[in-house]
Amino acid sequence: MDITKGREVLPKNVKPLHYDLILEPDLETFEYEGEVVIELDVVEDTTSISLNTLDLTIHETKIVSGSKLISSTPELHYSEDTQTMKITFQETLPAGSTATLTQKFSGRLNDNMAGFYRSSYKSEDGTNKYLATTQMEPTDARRAFPCFDEPALKAEFTITLVADKDLTCLSNMDEASEKEVDSKMTGGGKKKAVTFNKTPLMSTYLLAFIVGELKMIETNAFRVPVRVYATPDRDIEHGRFSMELGARTLEFYEKTFNSEFPLPKMDMVAIPDFSAGAMENWGLITYRVVDLLFDDKTSGASTKQRVAEVVQHELAHQWFGNLVTMDFWDGLWLNEGFATWMSWYSCNTFYPEWKVWQGYVTDNLQSALALDGLRSSHPIEVPVKRADEINQIFDAISYSKGSCVLRMISKYLGEETFMEGIRRYLKKHAFGNTQTGDLWSALSDASGKDVEKVMDIWTKNVGYPVVTVTEDEKASAIHIKQNRFLRTADVKPDDDKTLYPVFLGLRTKDGVDEEVTLNDREGNFKIKDLDFFKVNADHSGIYRTSYTPERLTKLGKAAKDGLLTVEDRAGMIADAGALAASGYQKTSGVLSLLQGFDTEPEYVVWEELITRVASIRTAWIFQDEKIKDALKAFQRDLVSEKSHKLGWEFQESDGHIEQQFKTLLFNSAAMAGDERTQNAAFEMFNKFKNGDRSAIHPNLRSGVYGIVLSNGGAEEYDVILKEYRSAKTSDERNTALRAVGRAKSSELIKRSLAMALSDEVKSQDIYLPLAGLRAHREGIVALWEWMQENWETLVKKLPPGLTMLSSVVALCTNGFASKEQMKEVETFFEKKSTKGFDQSLKQSLDAIRAKQGWLSRDGEDVEKWLKDRGFF
Ligand code: BES
Ligand code: ZN
Repeated sequence: MDITKGREVLPKNVKPLHYDLILEPDLETFEYEGEVVIELDVVEDTTSISLNTLDLTIHETKIVSGSKLISSTPELHYSEDTQTMKITFQETLPAGSTATLTQKFSGRLNDNMAGFYRSSYKSEDGTNKYLATTQMEPTDARRAFPCFDEPALKAEFTITLVADKDLTCLSNMDEASEKEVDSKMTGGGKKKAVTFNKTPLMSTYLLAFIVGELKMIETNAFRVPVRVYATPDRDIEHGRFSMELGARTLEFYEKTFNSEFPLPKMDMVAIPDFSAGAMENWGLITYRVVDLLFDDKTSGASTKQRVAEVVQHELAHQWFGNLVTMDFWDGLWLNEGFATWMSWYSCNTFYPEWKVWQGYVTDNLQSALALDGLRSSHPIEVPVKRADEINQIFDAISYSKGSCVLRMISKYLGEETFMEGIRRYLKKHAFGNTQTGDLWSALSDASGKDVEKVMDIWTKNVGYPVVTVTEDEKASAIHIKQNRFLRTADVKPDDDKTLYPVFLGLRTKDGVDEEVTLNDREGNFKIKDLDFFKVNADHSGIYRTSYTPERLTKLGKAAKDGLLTVEDRAGMIADAGALAASGYQKTSGVLSLLQGFDTEPEYVVWEELITRVASIRTAWIFQDEKIKDALKAFQRDLVSEKSHKLGWEFQESDGHIEQQFKTLLFNSAAMAGDERTQNAAFEMFNKFKNGDRSAIHPNLRSGVYGIVLSNGGAEEYDVILKEYRSAKTSDERNTALRAVGRAKSSELIKRSLAMALSDEVKSQDIYLPLAGLRAHREGIVALWEWMQENWETLVKKLPPGLTMLSSVVALCTNGFASKEQMKEVETFFEKKSTKGFDQSLKQSLDAIRAKQGWLSRDGEDVEKWLKDRGFF
């Protein structure tokens, strides 16, 4: 292995040009046979070749230079640590020549959802059926076949799949030829060999191949065919929404980027076992079933939006990631940040009535600020050396903060100029690899501004500032100072050295001034009329703003007077909540602010209001019942009237946002013990229990289950469990499974936990029964006990290289809120390997620390405020 720029990478003596790969999977024994012929460009005189493999058995290795056999018995040295095989031979391959490396190998279709793996579904007669599929990103192509498994080592690929004649074979490209062959697998017999056309230059992590029994629908609405595939147990018509949106999105991206989609087809496949949400394999996108198939009769508005987001995200990757690829994993944000930003951009064009940019402020912006407010966060561009570190950076920093950085620069340059920069970037680097600097150059080119100068700091450093605003009335000016923001409120001088270029986005009665920037630690800024101003218009900047309590009250009034946008109002509430949670302000002040928003008309603002109440209730979850009840009463007081006004009946004419608005308020009121909504929930549930499937509207399903389980017992539990077992769509089943954990009795908690590890729940869904348990203290405690008791099983079931163990650790630990609990978690992991989830564990501990600090600072403050206002 070479260390270049601190990365562990393959030596540069040879470079792959073309792979000829044949794979023959057996869906009964789960073994597969493979042969790969790799054409190499020899860069330096060499007597060795190193490449990646993992869990493969190599049967034969042959090296040929031109037409001359160099070795058919080279020495093979395997390093488990770096997952590389070094092949050494006597004769030298001369620089400037080409050579071919041939390897015959076999592997196993694993059930870890990585590399070439098997996925199962039930056939009509109830037996298990299988398909073979792949998930290569980030570093599991090496599990499928020997390869140079790094994003910058792009090559062309010719793939052949050998399978039973009645199975569907798919890969990145369209089919070139099919012929009959003798099977190499045990038993022999005749099979078909499907060879696909040669791919363009591409990275290994984007390869895909699928063999199985699949149904398909197709559209010709786009220049090349767009298809959706699913296993026979699904209704393929549920793929229509994604298929049509897919065609529309490809067309839109081609135009917007002025760059043709270079492949001859676009297939999108619903895979029954899938570790992420979806994967952007070039021309063959794979999805978790719920993220591709959508049935508007049984699913609600938020599910539709999620499917739309995922489809557009993966299609955006066809350019950002697939056509132009980061040169190494530390540039992951160039993939994920872009795909995230683009999916919002196109969604806003297709569905302007969804107003997705408003929701961006409560969604991506808050996820980014929440994670990046922890000391255990990391810079957007983070050095990753090793395979096992890479999975951990698929997090809110790469996705959400990455996309926030793009949103910030796009607002600063103007969207049109930004897009022009993007077109230049794609054109210049098509089929190549880039670093962050290449993006800044293209944007500088297009705008004439020094983009690197203002943006570099945001991607190279961890964290973001809190901007404190004070006022000087006499001078008619505001004073602004920036400091590092930490949720744990323990900023040390060393943490606070980075000075960010802060785009102030000053909103006054005259409009927004996008030009003013704070480049130093602090500065004064003139404002004509101090009566009204707000910093960070629309919250396009990545920072929090701390105002004086007086100014915050004035802003609350300005909100009512219509002087602030939806983004401003939601963002301001989020900032106030976060600043209170971390000691920059008093929580009582936030409670008053929230209370003042009871006449707020907009959905997104309510969403943030309710989130902030929830975050107080979550931190207070281990406190006295009487205070918890008072907080519940506060929530009830805040949301009930609005919920009654909006109602919980859905009409055809209800808009997308209106539907979600009703849902949000209904759930929030009923969960806070509001009688009318709670009764309504039980009424719907009882009808549903008696067989009326239409009694619960899809938008309310999750809320109603949650409400009846939080207040009910075994009877409700069994009805919902039955729904999990028998419902037709993944969305309905997931909603049921996510709800079971809401039940609080120790008996039912045990059952929910047992479900998580039973055969009834696929590994991909293990987080679902766990999630509901986080809603109550009994559940949080039980999760932790359960995780400790089952640790060995969990590690075996969820290999640390993948993302799932990370999520389970987070789910089972970060519900805690005290020092003692934190200590317990630390003690448990002290002597264990935390490889593969150390980041998530550190973040959990930080989150507990933050809550603990909040409680000790503001426990009394909150109690007094609630008492003074008669909540207990
Ligand atoms: N490239 C990722 C999939 C991925 C995630 C691969 C983690 C390896 C490790 C894909 O583009 C993605 O980001 N999927 C998201 C959905 C998206 C809408 C945020 C996902 O899986 O949730
Ligand atoms: Zn992605």
